[in-house]
Amino acid sequence: MVTTPLLPSDYLDLFSPLRAGADLRGRIEAVRPETGDAATIVIRPGRAWRGHTAGQYVRIGVDVDGVRLWRAYSLTSPTDRRDGRVTITVKAIPDGKVSNHLVRRAKPGTVIQLDQPTGDFVLPRAKPAKVLYLTAGSGITPVMGMLRDTEFDDVVMVHCAPRPQDVIFRSELHDLVADKKLRLTEVHTDTDGMLDIARIGALVPDWAERETWACGPAGLLDAAEEHWSEHGVQERLHTERFRPGVVVTGDGGEVTFSATGKTVDADGATPLLDVGEEAGVLLPSGCRMGICFGCVTPLKAGAVRDLRTGEITEAEPGVLIQTCVSAAAGPCDIER
Ligand SMILES: Cc1cc2nc3c(=O)[nH]c(=O)nc-3n(C[C@H](O)[C@H](O)[C@H](O)COP(=O)(O)OP(=O)(O)OC[C@H]3O[C@@H](n4cnc5c(N)ncnc54)[C@H](O)[C@@H]3O)c2cc1C
Ligand code: FES
Repeated sequence: MVTTPLLPSDYLDLFSPLRAGADLRGRIEAVRPETGDAATIVIRPGRAWRGHTAGQYVRIGVDVDGVRLWRAYSLTSPTDRRDGRVTITVKAIPDGKVSNHLVRRAKPGTVIQLDQPTGDFVLPRAKPAKVLYLTAGSGITPVMGMLRDTEFDDVVMVHCAPRPQDVIFRSELHDLVADKKLRLTEVHTDTDGMLDIARIGALVPDWAERETWACGPAGLLDAAEEHWSEHGVQERLHTERFRPGVVVTGDGGEVTFSATGKTVDADGATPLLDVGEEAGVLLPSGCRMGICFGCVTPLKAGAVRDLRTGEITEAEPGVLIQTCVSAAAGPCDIER
């Protein structure tokens, strides 16, 4: 009663936010610029942190202009870092709320929300004889976590970025090359043009024999999946996507967030999560690409379309939708 309306734990959080038993949090201890628009965030996780496997990602909750926003970031630190800290490396994207906040405004000392690490874009227990890392832009991050964690006898990397100065971790990659721990081809797309995946054989003649981890924009990954399939080696290709592949859009409609009392017009291509956030409705979220189920919300009335498959879901009692990959398919009511 003494502390009402706050709970005693809220006071404890002020002094010891990373203590055992508290919700999992982390404290930003440093922000290190990597390129003009990317930075590594060094985080000390709370006591409950269970550790990660190289290649996994963590969901973090950050307060931006008073609103808590959740995003997923790959862990770029090795799994055995002695000081117990972990790192993520973030590339600021145009108009990106969280990425710009983390790269340009995050301050050491800030406490952020953390989830336990997750994801199946990881290395197998048995080391493959030959490895290929195929990455572009910020897609290098989970692979850097792997490179820092596990050495292979024969590892080749093909990385795409507009210019040399845009290559995140460039000097560390070149150190690995100098130590003969990595063979690296950089494709500078401003001068070399986009990588034509059909020509991967010119860069890596034995690509089809290599266990491959690929991360980058949808165009690169779609082309790689097609190429590996055409050559019957699709089981050697492991991909990680940062955004959902939108394949089907349709007519939108009027979206009502009945609990908040807001109604907005939405097109048939914008995820309801974005529609709600734009309207100032507080919606739960996580990966924002349909994999974590952190955004599931009851559909009270109307219909929505899954942007990945085109499947229509109509409201029924108990029906939940993933707002990050669902768009309005006519008028609908989202229970938030
Ligand atoms: C498993 C996973 C791992 C990830 N790891 C990393 C990582 O290590 N480093 C990293 O920088 N990012 C990573 N991301 C992407 C990250 O979660 C955010 O999507 C990204 O930082 C943009 O968030 P934002 O709030 O800045 O943009 P928002 O404010 O959400 O979006 C702003 C605009 O940019 C568009 N947009 C959203 N995401 C992207 C994107 N990834 N590329 C281009 N346009 C986009 C939106 O459609 C919108 O128009 C990862 C995503 C996933 C799912
Ligand atoms: S936010 Fe992860 S599934 Fe929607």
